[in-house]
Amino acid sequence: MSRLQDKVVAITGAARGQGRSHAVRCAEEGADVIAVDLCADVAATGYPGATPEDLAETVRLVEKAGRRAFARRADVRDGAAVRAAFADGVAQLGRLDAVVANAGIIAIGADRGVDAFTESVDIDLSGAVNTVHAALPHLGAGGSVVVIGSVAGLLPGQGENPGGPGMAGYMFAKRCLVDYVNTLAVQLGPSGRRINAVHSSLVSTPMILNERMHQVFRPDLDAPGPEDAVPVYESLTALPVGCVEPSDVSHAVVYLLSDESRYVTGLQLKVDGGQIVKAGVGA
Ligand SMILES: NC(=O)c1ccc[n+]([C@@H]2O[C@H](COP(=O)([O-])OP(=O)(O)OC[C@H]3O[C@@H](n4cnc5c(N)ncnc54)[C@H](O)[C@@H]3O)[C@@H](O)[C@H]2O)c1
Repeated sequence: MSRLQDKVVAITGAARGQGRSHAVRCAEEGADVIAVDLCADVAATGYPGATPEDLAETVRLVEKAGRRAFARRADVRDGAAVRAAFADGVAQLGRLDAVVANAGIIAIGADRGVDAFTESVDIDLSGAVNTVHAALPHLGAGGSVVVIGSVAGLLPGQGENPGGPGMAGYMFAKRCLVDYVNTLAVQLGPSGRRINAVHSSLVSTPMILNERMHQVFRPDLDAPGPEDAVPVYESLTALPVGCVEPSDVSHAVVYLLSDESRYVTGLQLKVDGGQIVKAGVGA
């Protein structure tokens, strides 16, 4: 069954990780894809960014699934650039039915300065808002918006923060997105357009599978690897899972983009192995 047959879906951060997974799953379900990514390092993160070759690989995989792809390098911090990318994508692919605001960074580390906070907010919050609002003029009744949040946005604030200013910025941005989605769901409702969020626990992508992240979770070791960090990740969730896979998140995204969820809006959908209930937050 093709659950997104002949829809066009725009996805930011589509060059790799979860964004690529969403693009491929959407194509497998019959959608054409507008794939946008920065394709460059973001200094504050301390891990390599995606590359133009990564974005080209996403295009290849979408086309391999039998669908069309329009790709554009753009920075979600630049609203005009995202608007131009979506407008050009719509001109080529004919329409826009849905958008996934997925691009994001994490600039974790206690040694970071305040720039790590502001850069996180610029990309993870303002970038998502730029993305949604670049898509809205193209979306008619039945249009669907998915914002990629994080369990970090559902957890309460913490006094002690081993992740430093960048982690504080990440949590702030993702918390604001919860409120943003709830507010916009009410505003968009009368036009028949929907907006929902997906909040995952740790996902196996380059954002997490890097030295800097392992160090934050295993400060007791000099050079921790994934095998050292994953047991700590596993201790956070109710189910026995360290990192969920990008495809686990994509399944939730496809549901929210499809007409199967036509009366679902303002949902904060967790794909978190029970991390939030285990934390006793109950959100
Ligand atoms: N990996 C996790 O554990 C995890 C957990 C919860 C939520 N998330 C969220 O999932 C989303 C995807 O992250 P991922 O895990 O796939 O990481 P990733 O680093 O593999 O992918 C992020 C993508 O976003 C792109 N990007 C970064 N800054 C950009 C910008 N300014 N403009 C355009 N593109 C930009 C990157 O180039 C990259 O391709 C993010 O919003 C992230 O916060 C990740």
